[in-house]
Amino acid sequence: MSEATSGAKVTDRDTGMPLVHAVNVMKSFHDNQVLKGIDLDVHKGQVICLLGPSGSGKTTFLRCINQLETIDGGRIWVDGDLMGYEDRAGTLHRLNNKEIAAQRRGIGMVFQRFNLFPHKTTLENIMEAPMQVKGEKKAQARERAIALLERVGLADKPAAYPSQLSGGQQQRVAIARAMAMQPKLMLFDEPTSALDPELVGEVLAVMRELASDGTTMIVVTHEMSFAREVADHVVFMDGGVVVEQGDPRSVINNPQHARTRSFLSRVQAEPHAVEDVPATPEEAIIAVDGPRPAGERSVPVKHRPEEDV
Ligand SMILES: Nc1ncnc2c1ncn2[C@@H]1O[C@H](COP(=O)(O)OP(=O)(O)OP(=O)(O)O)[C@@H](O)[C@H]1O
Ligand SMILES: [Mg+2]
Repeated sequence: MSEATSGAKVTDRDTGMPLVHAVNVMKSFHDNQVLKGIDLDVHKGQVICLLGPSGSGKTTFLRCINQLETIDGGRIWVDGDLMGYEDRAGTLHRLNNKEIAAQRRGIGMVFQRFNLFPHKTTLENIMEAPMQVKGEKKAQARERAIALLERVGLADKPAAYPSQLSGGQQQRVAIARAMAMQPKLMLFDEPTSALDPELVGEVLAVMRELASDGTTMIVVTHEMSFAREVADHVVFMDGGVVVEQGDPRSVINNPQHARTRSFLSRVQAEPHAVEDVPATPEEAIIAVDGPRPAGERSVPVKHRPEEDV
């Protein structure tokens, strides 16, 4: 990351108030205790990568942050809001669905699978939530959607339907859709693991750009290049606890715990791992396919008049 882009990051470290403050978070499914007391602080503008083997509780923890799961113990604050609960004299009372939905609005989530509306165009997918959930005017939602499409390198695809896009392009639309709500926090759950290897770089490039623009992000990933180059901090989880955390280079290059070492040696041996995160989606595409004349890559798309959107 260049001086200029890292300098653009806003951090709140001086005030000491983390954007995400999770304390001793516990979660069980029946008698299976999946989270055994997770503590995590994420400051505004930081990128945290969450690493760990399958079943270690990474997804569950992300789902607890945005209250897709209830928690059994501990507390999670996002931007000062106690997520999912009201604290009345030390006892937690569950908020109602409307209150939880309002809290969740400030958090964008991108999953392994893109979950785009198949019958809506790219632009419509991105405009949907701001209009339906926030009651934004169509013109404003549209203007932001167009800007976001440009940001994710898909300015030429406003009228494409998801089935007309590659997996990497769909995932970039999914990122734009989450960003359209102008979230204060973005959660990514293995956003590249369902993609063909050659499409991983273009999605990581978009995430890298969001990070350098100061987006606060928690990213569950097996892409060690991304963690090493983009994260401010990495957290290694295993068996529902944080085993090790710290500066990405020290944790990834010099892990202290045997469990971290064993996990890292497995993921780093994965054949499709990206070695360097491309700076832009276009760079990722050129790296895979070589330069092509403009337009040649475009999937044939049935264009609709802009007014239809
Ligand atoms: N809704 C659920 N009901 C019951 N058990 C669940 C549920 N969700 C997760 N679990 C269990 O919780 C444990 C942790 O799952 P989780 O999905 O959080 O792991 P993970 O670290 O994200 O794994 P992966 O890398 O495979 O995505 C697993 O044992 C899983 O089976
Ligand atoms: Mg998971």
